[in-house]
Amino acid sequence: MKKIIIAIDGYSACGKSTTAKKVAAALNYRYIDSGAMYRAVTLYFLDQFVELTNPKAVEDALKNIEIDFRFNEKKGRSDTYLNGLNVEDEIRTMRVSQIVSQVSALPAVRRAMVAQQQRMGKQRGIVMDGRDIGTAVFPDAEVKVFMTADITIRAYRRQQELLEKGEMFDLDEIIENLKSRDYIDTHRSESPLVQAPDAYFLDTSFLTIDEQVEYVLQLATSKIIEKNKTTITTC
Ligand code: CDP
Ligand code: CDP
Repeated sequence: MKKIIIAIDGYSACGKSTTAKKVAAALNYRYIDSGAMYRAVTLYFLDQFVELTNPKAVEDALKNIEIDFRFNEKKGRSDTYLNGLNVEDEIRTMRVSQIVSQVSALPAVRRAMVAQQQRMGKQRGIVMDGRDIGTAVFPDAEVKVFMTADITIRAYRRQQELLEKGEMFDLDEIIENLKSRDYIDTHRSESPLVQAPDAYFLDTSFLTIDEQVEYVLQLATSKIIEKNKTTITTC
């Protein structure tokens, strides 16, 4: 059975990763959180005081970064590892969120991450979410979805998540963080956040997670059928 690539891009807190994980589980595909990779790089840069304006320091730091994902049996999720250490919780903190878009805008960082993501998807059979998956990482992805949602709804969702982890932030502070990341993500020179011309547009403001999953699964299922039909008729 031929497998496909599903690319889910869009703004923060639209439900990309929650949807992507469930779609991957339903299809028995691998889920890859590309944002976690940029967050892990950011954590390293923060801890090592890497100067973002110094291209040599950035290049040198990137050579010392190994990122991988390992399944956490206890929590039933895939955790992000940075140089062998589990950083899954640390990369989701506001400390990282506040600077991740600046780090992600650096061309050297993007080149390194995109190359690793493309290697991960070589066998297809993956669902990857991020900002540039359908445009730069896998322009040939069979299914592309671009998600957006109302900024206040997105901020409220993020606030609830942070609260569950014991981090309390005003809605306004979260809105500011989301707006500033949106701006940097959509205005950077290399692979900015933009809807691919062949991506399906989905506003998730008033959708449930189940509805989002259903929407992507329907698109994926018809593509998988189409791809395997083509294989049979052309053999
Ligand atoms: O989960 P959330 O939507 O808040 O963000 P994320 O997916 O964890 O991504 C964090 C940041 O990484 C984004 O705001 C982007 O600056 C960057 N990113 C990127 O540039 N390209 C990607 N493919 C994924 C994330
Ligand atoms: O990956 P992305 O940043 O786009 O969003 P997410 O991490 O999947 O979702 C952010 C939060 O919003 C999670 O707690 C989701 O459960 C929640 N969410 C929701 O409650 N309803 C939706 N329709 C979409 C997301």
